[in-house]
Amino acid sequence: MKTIRMRILMSYGLLIASTVLIIEILLCLGVRHYYYAQLEAMLEQQANVAAGIFANYLYDGSLRQRSTELIYNIPFISSQIQVLDEKGKVVEDSAGLTLGRNEKSPDAVEALAGQPGRYTGPAEYTNDRIMAISRPILAGASVRGAVRVISSLAPTEQTLFRIYLLFIGTGAALLAAVLAASILLSRTITAPLAEVTAAAETMARGQLSVRARKRYEDEVGRLADTLNHMAEEISRHDRLKNEFISSISHELRTPLTSIKGWAITLQTDPLDEENETHEGLHIIETETDRLSGLVEELLDFSRLSAHRVSLSRAPFLLGRLLSNVVRLMAPRAGRLGILLELEMDEDTGNVEMVADQGRLRQVLINLLDNALKFTDRGGVITIGAHCKGEGVCMSVHDTGRGIAPEELLHVTEKFYKGVDAGVKGGSGLGLAISEELVRLHGGRLEIESILQAGTTVNVYLPLKEEGA
Ligand SMILES: Nc1ncnc2c1ncn2[C@@H]1O[C@H](COP(=O)(O)OP(=O)(O)OP(=O)(O)O)[C@@H](O)[C@H]1O
Ligand SMILES: [Mg+2]
Repeated sequence: MKTIRMRILMSYGLLIASTVLIIEILLCLGVRHYYYAQLEAMLEQQANVAAGIFANYLYDGSLRQRSTELIYNIPFISSQIQVLDEKGKVVEDSAGLTLGRNEKSPDAVEALAGQPGRYTGPAEYTNDRIMAISRPILAGASVRGAVRVISSLAPTEQTLFRIYLLFIGTGAALLAAVLAASILLSRTITAPLAEVTAAAETMARGQLSVRARKRYEDEVGRLADTLNHMAEEISRHDRLKNEFISSISHELRTPLTSIKGWAITLQTDPLDEENETHEGLHIIETETDRLSGLVEELLDFSRLSAHRVSLSRAPFLLGRLLSNVVRLMAPRAGRLGILLELEMDEDTGNVEMVADQGRLRQVLINLLDNALKFTDRGGVITIGAHCKGEGVCMSVHDTGRGIAPEELLHVTEKFYKGVDAGVKGGSGLGLAISEELVRLHGGRLEIESILQAGTTVNVYLPLKEEGA
């Protein structure tokens, strides 16, 4: 695997190394050129002066005679100096090395031809490389010989070598510093990443209690946050799922126990007493109804929470919906001795809604079912609607036993049932489903209640929903 760290190191390393290399080469070439140019300028100056002096003194005597005398009297010439006659023979040499030789170096040849000459390269008589500058000695227009000023390049090259070493050392130190910095940088990136990865792997193995450590407020830090959030959500869903399963099991067990109990009783002495048999069968029937109702609600609820319920919206009159529901529930209210009233002005009744009428009916029936369940004989239930802002508010009010404030927060949770609600045979899904259905319509469900005085459930629905 080509790690991020390697990639950072490679790219930084290559970039810096090539930059340093190019700069070093340019610097070395520059310095070398500078030193050579300095030396050349100095030698040229000396050669010019010497050639001038020789030319001036030549009118009275031969080159050979005058040269010895002159060569040691040119005070400022520090380099080796040769005097050549017109044939190129060395007639004088301040170093005494080449006396009598025929000088064939290119600079000498040039000078004897009347042109200034310059040569850099190995000398025949030493191992060093030299720089030689030659100037013709002129008497009028004729060349009488040449002056050659020679310097060994060894000291210059030694100096240059030391400078090169300095450059290379500095370059290497720079490169090492940059590499060290990029190693540190890549660590600050890869170490947190490795930690987050390790945490993610642990989470993947099912240990959702681990948390990724957040080192910096950067992209990796955000990744850690997201991962932790994900783990929390998964744990929460896990918990919910378990609670859900245990509540369902509980809900299923109660009716099943009583069905089984009666089945056993009826089996052992079926013909014992007519009345008892009848009661047993009746209980089995109601418990079975309750079970199938529960399964129905559960299916509905699971579809709702998986967002698999799509509303089939169609236009209808608000008044129609409400009077329909009242007509449906009136017989039961009558049986229980509870007064069921519809309260709605004509304008509201004529409001045309575009919504899923069947689902809203389900909501209202749920609310009325609760009101009927938790209101005593002689109570009053009012169902009504009025326009409110951009929408409508439908409400179901009862004069029943009310909900305690601490319970109020929980009544819309799934499977939540009040203490004595179990006796009334509910599963605790009614309000949860209703709230979800209202939410799907883009509205909200609010419950107000005073203990022992009554409960009002308000359902706000927008008339024009965005995107609908
Ligand atoms: N109108 C009301 N008056 C008093 N308490 C209520 C009223 N409506 C709801 N509650 C309380 O809220 C709880 C939850 O109501 P919900 O409708 O969700 O469940 P349920 O009626 O018990 O069962 P289900 O509706 O599934 O048959 C009820 O058990 C009850 O304690
Ligand atoms: Mg209910």
